[in-house]
Amino acid sequence: MDLLDKLRAVGARAALFDGQVCRPFDTVFDEVLGPCEVRFAGRRVLMFGSNNYFGLSFHPGVQAAAQDAVGRYGSGSTGSRVANGTLRIHEELERDFAETFGKRYGMIFSTGFQANLCLVAGLCSTDDTILLDAACHASIYDGARLSGASVVREDVRQAVIRAVLAAVNRRLEPLIADVDLAATTSPTGGREDLRR
Ligand SMILES: Cc1ncc(COP(=O)(O)O)c(C=O)c1O
Repeated sequence: MDLLDKLRAVGARAALFDGQVCRPFDTVFDEVLGPCEVRFAGRRVLMFGSNNYFGLSFHPGVQAAAQDAVGRYGSGSTGSRVANGTLRIHEELERDFAETFGKRYGMIFSTGFQANLCLVAGLCSTDDTILLDAACHASIYDGARLSGASVVREDVRQAVIRAVLAAVNRRLEPLIADVDLAATTSPTGGREDLRR
């Protein structure tokens, strides 16, 4: 086994998409035409996959503020706040969020992945057990792993279905018992009617 062995499995997976219109990771948009439209392979197509739910990336106020910020602060903070300190505008943004949501403190992460990773790993530790739905985002699993907590993975949708079926069964049991009694006392029985 060599260092790149695990990437061969990724290559084999990617090959499953050969001959298809799109391959994950290889889908290149030539132009972004608006919050919900992009140009792909020369065609104007709708973008359903992004998290740009409110179309804020093209909101004139957001664009103007971003342009102004780049002019005043440069293209990024260029380092972590642990090493470089915090920009006043970041602190103000966190305070605004906290006030908006009625919380004492807010913390802004630049990606959802980082937020989940840091929160789960920051809040939980080896003494904890975390129950995760099978469909949780990979970042939550990574955060849980990083925390050292024990992870219990459960398909919550299946668990809910099982619980509903168990509840229905519990409600039906007395009925079936009644029908069983009817079946012993009636020549035609009652079970078939109930089952129908
Ligand atoms: C539930 C959930 N958590 C985390 C993420 C990761 O967010 P990001 O792409 O900003 O890192 C996503 C991305 O879609 C998500 O849907």
